[in-house]
Amino acid sequence: MTFETLLVDIQERVALITLNRPQALNALNAQLISELNQALGQLEADPRIGCIVLTGSAKAFAAGADIKEMAELSYPQVYLDDLFAEADRIATRRKPLIAAVAGYALGGGCELALLCDMIFAADNARFGQPEVNLGVLPGIGGTQRLTRAVGKAKAMDMCLTGRQMDAAEAERAGLVARVFPAESLLEETLKAARVIAEKSLPATMMIKESVNRAFETTLAEGIRFERRVFHAVFATADQKEGMAAFSEKRKPEFTNR
Ligand code: HXC
Repeated sequence: MTFETLLVDIQERVALITLNRPQALNALNAQLISELNQALGQLEADPRIGCIVLTGSAKAFAAGADIKEMAELSYPQVYLDDLFAEADRIATRRKPLIAAVAGYALGGGCELALLCDMIFAADNARFGQPEVNLGVLPGIGGTQRLTRAVGKAKAMDMCLTGRQMDAAEAERAGLVARVFPAESLLEETLKAARVIAEKSLPATMMIKESVNRAFETTLAEGIRFERRVFHAVFATADQKEGMAAFSEKRKPEFTNR
């Protein structure tokens, strides 16, 4: 897989996508979003891949949507092109996707991290929604996903003032799943990705779908959805293998069937 704005590296069952626009601190331009969707589409279709990690550079996961590309756009242009609608497709992917965030994750960069299933952060990570400083507002789901992640108080604070959260505050607020020293972020994230990729892929995909349901429906409907999916997993060979392996005191060998 060759792209201009991304690097893709596959190691056994884990794919690592590295945003690669260092001259613009990985600002998200239309080409990057399009290439990211192409890469995710190909990895989703590849049966070998069990987990995907998305990362940036040591200085910036992504410093936002590309301000220079957006600055002169008119309302009819952004409306007709449905600017950033393509980014929503990232959230519809079905395989587990972890964001490994070092440095700046601002504006669209923070929103991109929020489109992933969980965020692992370096201790130098900085999260923010500074769109208000540009006279605009978050446009890739920040007012919605950030609010669901950290609650109204912190989301209002970040979106209205544009201030940045450091990694420790982001972990306390529930934005981030784990924090690591910057030098070990990638190694630790890839380690977690390998753990996930060794599981039964139908099970991890069902878990992802079920957890995401919690954000889209009532508790009763969410529990009903989980119960139906839980019943369905008994149709997989991996359920038989996982439970047999437990009884036989051995490691399960999942076949994703
Ligand atoms: C385009 C960007 C950029 C961005 C940085 N660059 N962020 N280009 N879009 N979002 C470019 C700079 O112009 C500069 O290019 C180069 O990257 C290095 O950045 P510097 O500013 O020189 O680095 P530094 O002084 O270390 O400051 C880092 C920074 C700052 C604090 C992250 O770059 C910054 O504030 N960036 C903008 C953050 C932001 O407002 N993001 C929200 C964007 S709006 P040159 O050519 O000068 O070297 C958004 C909307 C989403 O995301 C929703 C859409 C609807």
